[in-house]
Amino acid sequence: MTHQYEAIMATARRIALEAGAIQMRYFRNLDRYEKKGEIDLVTVADRECEELIHREILGDFPDHAVLGEEGGRYGSDTADYLWIVDPLDGTTNYAHGLRLFAVSIGVTFQGRVIAGVVYAPALDELYTATRGGGAFRNLQQIRVSETGTLQDALLVTGFPYDRADHVKPLMTMLGECVKSSRGILRLGAAALDFAMVAAGHLDGFYEYGLKPWDMAAGSLLVEEAGGRVTDFHGEQPFDLFGKRCVATNGRIHGELLRTITVDGGAHSFPR
Ligand code: IPD
Ligand code: CA
Ligand code: CA
Repeated sequence: MTHQYEAIMATARRIALEAGAIQMRYFRNLDRYEKKGEIDLVTVADRECEELIHREILGDFPDHAVLGEEGGRYGSDTADYLWIVDPLDGTTNYAHGLRLFAVSIGVTFQGRVIAGVVYAPALDELYTATRGGGAFRNLQQIRVSETGTLQDALLVTGFPYDRADHVKPLMTMLGECVKSSRGILRLGAAALDFAMVAAGHLDGFYEYGLKPWDMAAGSLLVEEAGGRVTDFHGEQPFDLFGKRCVATNGRIHGELLRTITVDGGAHSFPR
């Protein structure tokens, strides 16, 4: 790791731990949440975490920029380094007192993710990766699974907040995966979906409607754990702003892409 990457990782790790501490302070003591949309929630923890994260990033790296889910973009418009942050991924789980939530911090250099941290404080799991440096959980190196067929694969997916507009393709993809795989979960926190694929517990993840902050850190975890991350057409590098993601152990990638495309499924969403 270069000196600059080390400094970036040190900051990313530190602020992920601090944001996790804020999340735990309010966890199960939330007296209210607000609705951003019909089912899209935001809590005081989302807002406090993002505030802390962007303040500390720009404090350590004043010439970098930050893109956060709750506050949009801060910092220089021409920065080479853009930090893409989900201050609390899995807000619905969090508001319901479920432990599957995380802070997700991905750092891009000229558009390519070079470092990622996902911290799930209620699980005591800190996932980290740097481009070319491997992926780790609590400092232990992790690898994707060796599952070779979809029939033996445990999958995970998620549904976007505007799911009502896309019920048909979402259900077509889900139905094909139910038929063809060992099982399919919906955990409710995309950053952890990637982390579970990276750690080899799950074999594949696909989702339509993801935002860059859902994918930046997690996609690097999967790649650095030996897996593959593409859009629904198998394109690499996939577009962080392209809403579509398939992340697998690599071995089942082609089969999963074919399966979610049956009956038009994955290719029926608007561009
Ligand atoms: C959501 C979660 C969920 C995914 C949604 C995301 P949020 O993020 O990652 O798993 O299905 O598409 O928006 O709103 O909890 O940060
Ligand atoms: Ca999210
Ligand atoms: Ca969020």
